[in-house]
Amino acid sequence: MKLIAASILSADFSRLKDEIQAVESAGADWLHMDIMDGHFVPNITFGPPVLEKLKKISTKPFDVHLMIQNADCYLESFVKAGADLISVQVEACPHLHRTLGQIKKLGAKAAAVLNPHTPLSCLEYVLADLDMVLLMSVNPGFGGQSFIPSALEKAKKLKAWREEKKLNFLIEMDGGIKTQNIAEISKAGVDVFVVGSGIFETANYSATISELKKKI
Ligand code: DX5
Ligand code: ZN
Repeated sequence: MKLIAASILSADFSRLKDEIQAVESAGADWLHMDIMDGHFVPNITFGPPVLEKLKKISTKPFDVHLMIQNADCYLESFVKAGADLISVQVEACPHLHRTLGQIKKLGAKAAAVLNPHTPLSCLEYVLADLDMVLLMSVNPGFGGQSFIPSALEKAKKLKAWREEKKLNFLIEMDGGIKTQNIAEISKAGVDVFVVGSGIFETANYSATISELKKKI
C-alpha cells in the first residue's frame, strides 16, 4: 500500500475548507496535521478545536503529527476532535510505551516519530506496539525545507527490520518530498509520503498528486 498524506501546513489557512476539499478531490489519501507547540519545535500551529471543525468538512483519515511536549495530556482531546492516527515524537515522550498504549486505548492508531538524528534502535522494544513509524526527513518545525538524504538509508534499514521481525507497521516519511525525489524514497521502502509544499505550492493539485502517485 502506497499513500499520499497531504500536509495542510503549507495550505492557505485563510481558505482552509476550500484547500482541504481541493486536495481531497485531487486524490490525497490522508490529511497530515502538523501540531506544533513552540517548545518542542520553534513554531506554533493549531490544536484540537481547529481539527474538530475540519473533521466535519473532510472525508479522509486525519494523520496527526504531534510536535509537542507533554503529549500525554492532549491525546484524548485530539482523538475526540477526530484524529484517526496519532504520531508522537520519541524525543518528547519519556514513557513512550505508555503513551502508545494510551493512544490505542482511546481508539486511534499509534505511531512513533524519529527526528533525523534519532536512531532506529530506540524503537526496538516498542516495535510490535506500533501501527506506523514516521521517519522525519527534515528537522521538524517548518514546511518547505530540503530533504535530508540519510533518511533513505534509515527507511531501508527499518524495512529490513520489519521483514526480519515479521511485523506489518507502515513506514511514513515527512519533509522535503517532491515529484523529483519521491521515486527514490518509495524504493527505499516508504509506504506513506507526507507532502506539504510539494502539493500546495503547485498550481494544479490533481496533476501534482497524479504525478506523485505515478512515481511511487
Ligand atoms: C515539518 C512537518 C511536515 C511539513 C512537511 O515539521 O512535520 O509535515 O509540513 O512540509 P514539506 O512537504 O513542505 O517539507
Ligand atoms: Zn509532519
